[in-house]
Amino acid sequence: MSKYQVHFENLGLKVPVEKGTSLLTAAWLAGVNIRSECNGKGRCGKCRVLIHEFKDKGHKSSNHQFFTEEELRQGWRLACEIEIDCDLKVTVPKASRDMGAVIRKSYTHREIELKPFVRRFYLDLPPFEANHGTGMWEQCAAILRDKYNMEEPVISPTAMIRLSNLAGRNVPPLEAFVSQSQQVICIRRKKDHPMLGLAVDIGTTSLAAYLGDLDNNLILAADSVLNPQVVYGGDVLSRISLVQERPEMLASLQQSVLQAVNGLIANMTESVGTNPDDIVDVTVVGNTTMHHLFLGLNPEALGKYPFIPTIKTAQYVRSSLLGLNVNPGAQIYMFPIFSAYVGADTIGVRIAEQFHEQEVMKLIMDIGTNGELVLGSNNRSFCTSVATGPAFEGAQIKFGMRAAPGAIERLSIDPKTLDVKYTVIPSPGEKENTRRPMGICGSGIFSAVAELLKAGMIKENGAFDKTKNRSRLRQEKGSKKYEFVLVFAEESGLDTDITICQDDVRAVQLGKSALLAGAQIMMQHAGITEPDEIILAGAFGSYINIDDAITIGLVPHCPREKIYAVGNAAGDGARMALFNWDFREEAQRFEQETEFIALSGTEEFQDILVKAMEFPRYACPACP
Ligand code: FES
Repeated sequence: MSKYQVHFENLGLKVPVEKGTSLLTAAWLAGVNIRSECNGKGRCGKCRVLIHEFKDKGHKSSNHQFFTEEELRQGWRLACEIEIDCDLKVTVPKASRDMGAVIRKSYTHREIELKPFVRRFYLDLPPFEANHGTGMWEQCAAILRDKYNMEEPVISPTAMIRLSNLAGRNVPPLEAFVSQSQQVICIRRKKDHPMLGLAVDIGTTSLAAYLGDLDNNLILAADSVLNPQVVYGGDVLSRISLVQERPEMLASLQQSVLQAVNGLIANMTESVGTNPDDIVDVTVVGNTTMHHLFLGLNPEALGKYPFIPTIKTAQYVRSSLLGLNVNPGAQIYMFPIFSAYVGADTIGVRIAEQFHEQEVMKLIMDIGTNGELVLGSNNRSFCTSVATGPAFEGAQIKFGMRAAPGAIERLSIDPKTLDVKYTVIPSPGEKENTRRPMGICGSGIFSAVAELLKAGMIKENGAFDKTKNRSRLRQEKGSKKYEFVLVFAEESGLDTDITICQDDVRAVQLGKSALLAGAQIMMQHAGITEPDEIILAGAFGSYINIDDAITIGLVPHCPREKIYAVGNAAGDGARMALFNWDFREEAQRFEQETEFIALSGTEEFQDILVKAMEFPRYACPACP
């Protein structure tokens, strides 16, 4: 097959590719991380590139949606829509490069009673004589039975291999790591090393891991990284459809996340001077798609009716089967999941928020590109999921971007002057607001809509109020629709104004109405008119400003002081189940006792959804 050379001129990178390869794939192969929020479907318009001396073979219809005639003449195209059939020289502008999301996975200190799933036992074997009449393992098992009162200890294959290396007449003092199910996961020479555990939270955008000392009930290290799967698509549906179209990509998706977790393990163990082999227990949470991809399970059925996960119950999977760089006998505890779109991460949040101990009705809104909702107390609970659309991750928003350096994450609008003040996410080590804005991330978009509502620029039905003809409100180029200028070109990091347009406001309305309608239906099932507490969680929920959420009507009515955002509560749930295995039983009980409410396509949901589209009435005393 013919090979062509693609030269990313402004980045000094070249890559040979086969005829027919998309320019977006060529960029990934060259190590250029081009933005691709719609996973190369030609819908998000984020993968804009300039092709030099380009001989066009006919326009795609989307070209006119994203480029002016003049830009098309200059050679601007979407990288995902170009199939390479000649050598190319390409410029990738700053705005099209993925800066990497800001990883915001802090952990909350929680008191956890120590009750680890794996325990350590010391074994002093007597010297062996010829024709002793027993084997190494039988001697170890006898000590475990007689001294430690175990009924039926069972040795794992990897522990047996290790034991074989210690066989001989005089065996040194040994230590055995045994799980609560009396599975011996490792026997080794007695060492003065801590017994370690690992809790992992696999988010669609980022991964977080926590290294725990299971002898002393301590977190030794925490680290996080961008989920490397983001280059294959920003949301779970993109990754599911990638596997549908190219089944061979399942292995790449799985390997990429395993390698990233192995990288976190290496960093954390090195930073505290320990060894990955000392990690004898692992817990993992993640949404259902991340759960399936981590285990190498085909996620296709999650993407089509009737949306069936391969397995819902909690699982123990041997680390050596997956290639996780911990003790090879360690078992990975995979949290149970509720459904295709209410995953182990939500169970993790539920564990962290201790539903099982309280009578108050709590509503958890775990918000990302998908909204996972749980309403319950220690008596009854319900869960459901809603599609929130693209606004929550900044995708398909005209100037939307992930929460990466250069993104506006918060803003305020003076209702009298319409002056906009904004906060831009800095790079690590950079001072706040020294960077020019390149776009606006999910929390920034919600902040903008809330501020426009408060300034009277948006009506309750979501339309811009055209009677307010001010300098920042104008018609979009080539369209009758309106947009509001947040940042003028002179101040922006792009060579253009950064605006929020009518379609962006509609995307916010769609997302917030789906969440509100889902919550209201659950409240009807529970027979309540408002929850006692609301917990905002998830990649997006943890960072939205609570006042903005109230202003746009994203949450049902509840006293302001009873609404709070939790950091990485899913990761906290994974840590709790690592230090105390009672929480694993709790997780399984939630999975069995929580009632799933299917919303999709029901008339009830559609009716409530339409009403929930309206923004709350906001009287603006300061508006002129
Ligand atoms: S338009 Fe090309 S990746 Fe979305």
